[in-house]
Amino acid sequence: MSNRAVSYAGPGSVEVVDTPYPEFELKDGPGVNPANVGRQVHHGVILKTIATNICGSDQHMVRGRTTAPVGLVLGHEITGEVVEVGRDVEFVKVGDVVSVPFNIACGRCRNCKEGQTGICLNVNPDRPGSAYGYVDMGGWVGGQAEYVLVPYADWNVLKFPDRDQAMEKILDLTMLSDIFPTGFHGAVGAGVTVGSTVYVAGAGPVGLAAATSAHLLGAAVVIVGDLNEDRLAQARSFGCETVDVSKGDPADQIEQILGVPEVDCGIDAVGFEARGHGKDAATEAPATVLNSLMEITRAGGSLGIPGLYVTGDPGAADEAAKQGSLSMRFGLGFAKSHTFVTGQCPVMKYHRGLMQAILADKVSIGKNVKATPISLEDAPQGYAAFDEGAAQKFVLDPHGVIPR
Ligand SMILES: NC(=O)c1ccc[n+]([C@@H]2O[C@H](COP(=O)([O-])OP(=O)(O)OC[C@H]3O[C@@H](n4cnc5c(N)ncnc54)[C@H](O)[C@@H]3O)[C@@H](O)[C@H]2O)c1
Ligand SMILES: [Zn+2]
Ligand SMILES: [Zn+2]
Repeated sequence: MSNRAVSYAGPGSVEVVDTPYPEFELKDGPGVNPANVGRQVHHGVILKTIATNICGSDQHMVRGRTTAPVGLVLGHEITGEVVEVGRDVEFVKVGDVVSVPFNIACGRCRNCKEGQTGICLNVNPDRPGSAYGYVDMGGWVGGQAEYVLVPYADWNVLKFPDRDQAMEKILDLTMLSDIFPTGFHGAVGAGVTVGSTVYVAGAGPVGLAAATSAHLLGAAVVIVGDLNEDRLAQARSFGCETVDVSKGDPADQIEQILGVPEVDCGIDAVGFEARGHGKDAATEAPATVLNSLMEITRAGGSLGIPGLYVTGDPGAADEAAKQGSLSMRFGLGFAKSHTFVTGQCPVMKYHRGLMQAILADKVSIGKNVKATPISLEDAPQGYAAFDEGAAQKFVLDPHGVIPR
């Protein structure tokens, strides 16, 4: 069997390459942790990929802001049809159409048993937590490919109840592998409930998913901030208020909307590549969003932080940030008794409920993030447009099965 996949080709570039068809064993390759080479995966399934999305998390690697090796096969947002099941798989069947959480989790360790699948202890020899196609995450091969191996399949995958219905709503359901649960986790972590006022920093797909989730949870007012006007317009298209952070700190613009320069709940959907505010918006200032959320979130409030922060950033502007040390005004958060919720989203906590909300027409996540299907071969153009800030979420369609 042949296979094609999107692979990292050095800073600013990806290419679509021939790659081995998966087997029930983790083979050596770019980014594969030596301690994971030869690992037997009879608990896994092989998927024919139906939809696999490009993510802001991929961009950190493709921009050269991580130690990702050239040749790494990318892709952690995977939806597909099961075409082979390993010897030890009991319940997943050939023909099932499933969503795959981007976190790889064993289902056997202490953290998995406590629902913390983002920090599984058994899948990455270097540190807790793993994902497909990601630097320092154990070396599990990415799913921006025609075919992909999914380990611990009985535990990891979410089966859609009906195949035809799944294909009809595929542009919504494909967001269950990452950004919808991630945005929802951001909103839950920020304490969003009925009547909340919410500020979401970042109008990329994760920010828009967090804003969608805040509406779903009953927020009174959802304000989204960015410096990209097209993305802010996308947020307004489904009932969000917006602030343009290139015009100054969000507090003043929030005051014009709410009458007070403060919100109940703050969500960081930007991460370490944050730009400064106002006249500093042209340059990167990695602690900007964290410091600003502490300023505008009410005393006693929570900060949901799905935005990614790293332990090493070769492209950082200063020596401290190269080690992941940021100039955070932590004393302000302490003074206001803030709670901080960080880390990889444990997708499995939320994906079934969010699937039901999609299937029952309670939410239109695909429309809100402007899901845009493109072919696998067009991935380089998709990456380039996303990097330029297109107000779209690109969905790769390796087998040409997604209705246009
Ligand atoms: N924790 C998780 O499990 C998880 C999962 C998926 C993605 N992520 C992370 O979430 C973040 C967002 O992902 P995305 O796909 O939406 O990325 P993205 O790069 O498309 O979006 C980020 C947006 O932030 C905007 N921005 C920059 N500085 C800003 C500022 N100071 N204030 C407001 N907006 C600002 C940018 O203009 C951009 O539109 C990334 O860091 C990604 O790695 C985390
Ligand atoms: Zn992602
Ligand atoms: Zn585990």
